[in-house]
Amino acid sequence: MELINKLNWRFATKAMNGEKVPQEKVDKILEAARLAPTSSGLQPFEIFVITNQEVKEQIKPHAWNQPQVTDCSHLLVFAAWDNYTEERINNMFDLTNEIRGFKNEGWENYRQMLLSTYPQRSAEENFTHAAKQAYISFGAAIIAAAFEEVDSTPMEGFSPEAVDEILNLKEKGLKSVLLLPIGYREESNDWLVNLAKVRKSKEDFITEIK
Ligand SMILES: Cc1cc2nc3c(=O)[nH]c(=O)nc-3n(C[C@H](O)[C@H](O)[C@H](O)COP(=O)(O)O)c2cc1C
Repeated sequence: MELINKLNWRFATKAMNGEKVPQEKVDKILEAARLAPTSSGLQPFEIFVITNQEVKEQIKPHAWNQPQVTDCSHLLVFAAWDNYTEERINNMFDLTNEIRGFKNEGWENYRQMLLSTYPQRSAEENFTHAAKQAYISFGAAIIAAAFEEVDSTPMEGFSPEAVDEILNLKEKGLKSVLLLPIGYREESNDWLVNLAKVRKSKEDFITEIK
């Protein structure tokens, strides 16, 4: 199947059958998420991979009791930095220098520019910016899952405060942003599986400026 066929095959799965996704496929989905581009390359979020059934059970009532939370194979939680700090910014710039093996004046000037703007902004503004970056990675994970013919359900329908509490995210300086159960569809129990995919027409979606 080519990518577009797989993207038509995927849907926001409403019922999963509990079957385990092979680790090799999970690794590829997570790698696609890790390779997603982010603003200034800061990657201001982390992913928690939950296979512990008790933890999934704890989360479910705080996620509108959506059954995929417990019937999935792996529950991915995308959690963004609660703020941009000097330390967090410096860590990513230092990592770049370490991996590339050299320091570059332009890059160091860019570091100073971020250091003189991001930490001074409100935590709320910085968290919102960080959360947007998590969405990019989330999209990459959804597409990678489809590519691997693994089902997933993108989820904003949960209480971030409750999930933060369950996963002790506050003490890590993180806030949950998105859930992504991955697993396999339970066709007999899924009201959406046979319904046509609904998208705006290309004409209403794309404007060519030639
Ligand atoms: C950010 C985001 C949050 C969503 N939250 C939920 C959710 O909590 N529960 C759910 O069943 N579907 C959720 N959806 C699924 C959307 O409703 C679905 O992707 C959209 O209707 C398009 O349908 P499709 O994904 O089946 O093609 C979410 C999708 C996105 C992208």
